[in-house]
Amino acid sequence: MTRTLALITGASSGIGAAYARSLAGDCDFVLVARRADRLSDLAAELQAADAEVEVLPADLSKPEGLAVVTGRLATGDVRLLISNAGAGGYAPLIDVDLAEVDTSLTLNAIAPIQLVRAALPGMLAAGDGTIITVASLLAFSGGQTDPRMPHRTLYAAAKAATLAFTRTLAHELADTAIRTQVVCPGVVATEFNGGVGQQVPFAMSPEDVAAASLAGIELGETICAPGLEDATAAFDALLAAETGVLNGGNRPTPASRYQPVPR
Ligand SMILES: NC(=O)c1ccc[n+]([C@@H]2O[C@H](COP(=O)([O-])OP(=O)(O)OC[C@H]3O[C@@H](n4cnc5c(N)ncnc54)[C@H](OP(=O)(O)O)[C@@H]3O)[C@@H](O)[C@H]2O)c1
Repeated sequence: MTRTLALITGASSGIGAAYARSLAGDCDFVLVARRADRLSDLAAELQAADAEVEVLPADLSKPEGLAVVTGRLATGDVRLLISNAGAGGYAPLIDVDLAEVDTSLTLNAIAPIQLVRAALPGMLAAGDGTIITVASLLAFSGGQTDPRMPHRTLYAAAKAATLAFTRTLAHELADTAIRTQVVCPGVVATEFNGGVGQQVPFAMSPEDVAAASLAGIELGETICAPGLEDATAAFDALLAAETGVLNGGNRPTPASRYQPVPR
């Protein structure tokens, strides 16, 4: 049986490693992250399951690292891209260094888009490809005022960009054989954000996130929210609200509340 070549970013821990382990029976791998030692340990484990594995250390928050991975994807042989690397860096925006704004958005928003752009030509030429990008439920959190939620201005912006990117791309690729999915987990018990999720009783396991995402691909889900029970109703309601804003706001005159008040 032919094995699918999967490139997984953020494979050195958490959700990325869980995807790799769950796909070991069917895939060969290119594993990407900064910690080469962790990637090599995982590679040995996957090779024991007969997978061929390339280890590709790269820092996806830096242009040089990103170029290494887009260059690998441009070879054209990857049929499953799992763009999962990410970091929280939760802080009020005023406490974030200007340089950190750049690296955070590069890692969490620009890298996933560049990786897809690099992978697409090979997938389209082969008429075969699946693209999974891991965002977060926090992509939907811009309007939330609950003080228990983390300071997340940059992170939420990046993940919302990823969400809009995948939803829109899915329409662009509707007439092709390429499947796309954005994954929006809640709290997951991984090393993310200093491992806080490992202390949260309602955290999901990374294995369950990966399994839900791969099952969601088979279900044809563009948005996979692993913990969300009635996803169809929720996303239909979201689309209806967005349609109302788009159609209602796209008019030639400002709304009545902006009209001058007669004196
Ligand atoms: N855990 C949660 O509660 C949660 C919830 C929603 C969404 N997510 C998202 O899930 C994805 C995976 O996170 P996780 O929970 O599995 O956390 P994790 O265990 O900390 O894994 C993050 C992965 O991203 C890699 N990474 C981080 N910075 C990188 C960089 N600059 N360049 C290349 N790779 C980098 C890490 O590898 P190296 O450190 O070796 O580079 C690691 O493999 C992230 O996109 C995260 O935003 C997590």
